[in-house]
Amino acid sequence: MELHILEHSLKVASIAKEGIQICTHGLIKLAFLPSKTRCKFFSLTETPEDYTIIVDEEGFKELPESDHLSVAEATWLALNVVSGGGSSSSSQPIGVTKIAKSVIAPLADHNISVFMLSTYQTDFILVRERDLPMVMHTLSSEFTLLRVVNGETVAANSLGVTNGFVKPKMVQRPIIHPLSSPSNMFCVTSLDPDTLPSVATLLMDVMFYSSGMKEPGGASEDSELIRFFSFSLIEGYISLVMDEQTTRRFPNNVLFTSASGELWKMVRIGGQPLGFDECGIVAQISEPLATADIPAYYISTFKFDHALVPEENIQSVIGALRTNESTGQ
Ligand code: ARG
Repeated sequence: MELHILEHSLKVASIAKEGIQICTHGLIKLAFLPSKTRCKFFSLTETPEDYTIIVDEEGFKELPESDHLSVAEATWLALNVVSGGGSSSSSQPIGVTKIAKSVIAPLADHNISVFMLSTYQTDFILVRERDLPMVMHTLSSEFTLLRVVNGETVAANSLGVTNGFVKPKMVQRPIIHPLSSPSNMFCVTSLDPDTLPSVATLLMDVMFYSSGMKEPGGASEDSELIRFFSFSLIEGYISLVMDEQTTRRFPNNVLFTSASGELWKMVRIGGQPLGFDECGIVAQISEPLATADIPAYYISTFKFDHALVPEENIQSVIGALRTNESTGQ
C-alpha cells in the first residue's frame, strides 16, 4: 500500500457564525470560482458552533484578517492512502475504517495528533508539518511512502529518525470525550464540477443562509437535529456531506451517491472543544469500528470530531463505544 504525502500546506481555521459575511467574498471564490484562484485544497464545514475551513496557502490569501477568524497555529500536511491497483473489488472497507489499524492507531501510539477529513472520494489524514519526520518513521514499515512534489509523485526517504520508537500499545483505548448522536441522517455525495454552476445558488443558500431555518419536526428521540454541512473542492473533486432533508432540495440526478444510496448517522465527539494537541481521539473511535468491520467517515472540525456510520449500525456503534467510555471524569 502507498501513502502519499500531499504537497499542500494547509491551515485550519474557524470563522464565527456572526463573522461569516465578511468572509463570503473569499469563500464564494474558493468554492465556486476555482479558475479565479490557485487554491487546490478547500473545505468548509458548518456546525452549530462555527464554520471550519481547511485551505492551502493560496486559498488562505482569499480570507480577510479578522477577529472573527481564528487560525490553528500549525501548518498541516495531508496524507492519503492509495491501495494498490490489484485489489479485488469486493469487501474493501471504506473511510476511516480502512486506515484505522494501519495509520490512525500507530500515529496515536506515537503521540502524533491528527485532524481527519473524509470526503466522498477519499480520506485525508492531516498531520502537523513539524511531525512529518516522526510520521514517516512510524508509517514506513507498513507503507511505501511517496511525496507529491510539483504534482509528481516521488519516493520519500525516511528522514533518519531513529529514536523515539514506541511499542504499539496492546491496551484498549478508553473513550475520553463525551459522545452524542443527533437524530438526522446524512448523505455523503458528490457532483460533477461541470454541474456546479447549475446548483451554485442553492449551495450558497445552504452554506450561508440556512442557519435560521426551522427544520420541520420528527425529532422524537432524546437528541436533536444538528446543523451540519460540509463542502470540499480538493484537486478538482467535489464532496458534499449534508443531511437527507437538504439533499431533497437538489434537482434529481445531480448528486452522486454510492449505488446503495446509504444513509449515515453521526456520532459527535467532544464536550469541551478538543483542541489540536491531543492525540488518540480518532483512534479511540475508529479502532473499535474497524474491529467490528463497520464503515465510517470521519470529519474533524475546529472544535469537535464527527464520525458517520451506517444508519443501521448506529445503535450497536453507540453501545460498543459506550462500553469503552472511561468512567473517571
Ligand atoms: N487530534 C485528535 C486526534 O489525534 C483529533 C482532532 C481533534 N480536535 C479537533 N479540533 N477536532 O485524535
